[in-house]
Amino acid sequence: MKILVTGGAGFIGSNFIYYLLDNRPEYEIVCLDKLTYAGNLKTLKKALNNDRFTFTKGDIADRDFVDKLFQNNQFDIVVNFAAESHVDRSIEHPDIFLRTNIIGTASLLDASKKYGVKRFHQVSTDEVYGDLPLDRTDLFFTEETPIHTSSPYSASKASADLLTLAYFRTYKLPVTVSRCSNNYGPYHFPEKLIPLIITRALNDESIPVYGQGLNVRDWLYVEDHCKAITMIIDKGREGEIYNIGGHNEKTNIDVVKTVLSILNKPESLITYVKDRAGHDLRYAIDPSKISRELGWIPETRFDSGIKKTVEWYLENRTWWQDIINGEYKDYYNKMYINR
Ligand code: NAD
Ligand code: DAU
Repeated sequence: MKILVTGGAGFIGSNFIYYLLDNRPEYEIVCLDKLTYAGNLKTLKKALNNDRFTFTKGDIADRDFVDKLFQNNQFDIVVNFAAESHVDRSIEHPDIFLRTNIIGTASLLDASKKYGVKRFHQVSTDEVYGDLPLDRTDLFFTEETPIHTSSPYSASKASADLLTLAYFRTYKLPVTVSRCSNNYGPYHFPEKLIPLIITRALNDESIPVYGQGLNVRDWLYVEDHCKAITMIIDKGREGEIYNIGGHNEKTNIDVVKTVLSILNKPESLITYVKDRAGHDLRYAIDPSKISRELGWIPETRFDSGIKKTVEWYLENRTWWQDIINGEYKDYYNKMYINR
């Protein structure tokens, strides 16, 4: 079996590649990644020593490049993680989100159709459903919840989902779509909340919390997400959407305080800053479909997952220090100074 993993030099894609190398000995894996600011070849260092793994640098939105790659490889499966993934960046610069997340997905779908891929899996997000009110803890996103996006990021992801599902209906391309809640774990880029807290707290720097820190996210350990995608590829029904999440809702301020307490750092590092524009209030996934149909359940509880994650950042300081000492510094200053 030959599998193409796009965006595999990023956070979830790299964890997925390691999951496959450990758990799917029959897979030959090709990673296609543009190595944007969020992609990092150092993340794939261990995989690059494995002869079942090949890395190719390229842009999913470059149709000629993608066509040649598919022509030269008979891919059985395509899993599309490649995306611009940060909501705050999408508010500043929407264009690149439309190019990569929509046009890029379209180019992969066309190549998959042309070269007869047996499964195209689109990695999507719970953000396509918009948000839920903070005072209605009885409400959850199901696969039937209407799409109702808030940010350019979520609108671009929803567009990609719709295209993917249209290729099933119109061309019978065997597709699946998964919509997952917030992930955390190793190799998470430090612009995102949890690695941002860990890396800044370790440097005794202030932790910017948007608004009052009362927005709720539903956190899932990244390995549980990787396992869910593998199960969908193995047994998921073509043309179907599967929600992935572990009923692990937390307010942002609770997450910040938990990490500070694990690191034994003072809460005085917390700094409340101007809220994100259009900030979604609450995400909460109902995972009963994937659980009922495929037998998936999350295995890592938040209290142990967050400790493992903090441990990873302590043991892999060079990985994140190289990032925060590079061009990330300019990004951080533009985004947060005078906020
Ligand atoms: P990430 O930003 O860490 O990684 C994205 C990767 O895609 C990077 O390696 C980047 O170089 C690559 N990439 C970007 N543009 C590309 C292009 N045009 N061509 C080829 N490669 C390109 O993102 P992530 O957090 O790992 O998210 C992966 C996927 O999962 C995304 O599709 C995202 O929407 C989705 N998702 C993320 C989360 C989360 O909590 N992080 C939750 C649900 C769904
Ligand atoms: O729900 C899935 C989504 O989760 C994915 O589709 C996205 O790719 C991923 O980035 C993530 O989006 P969020 O916007 O939820 O994640 P982020 O880490 O950016 O923010 C989490 C929460 O923390 C959110 O309510 C905003 C808040 N926040 C974030 C940052 C970066 C802060 O309070 N301060 C910050 O500095």
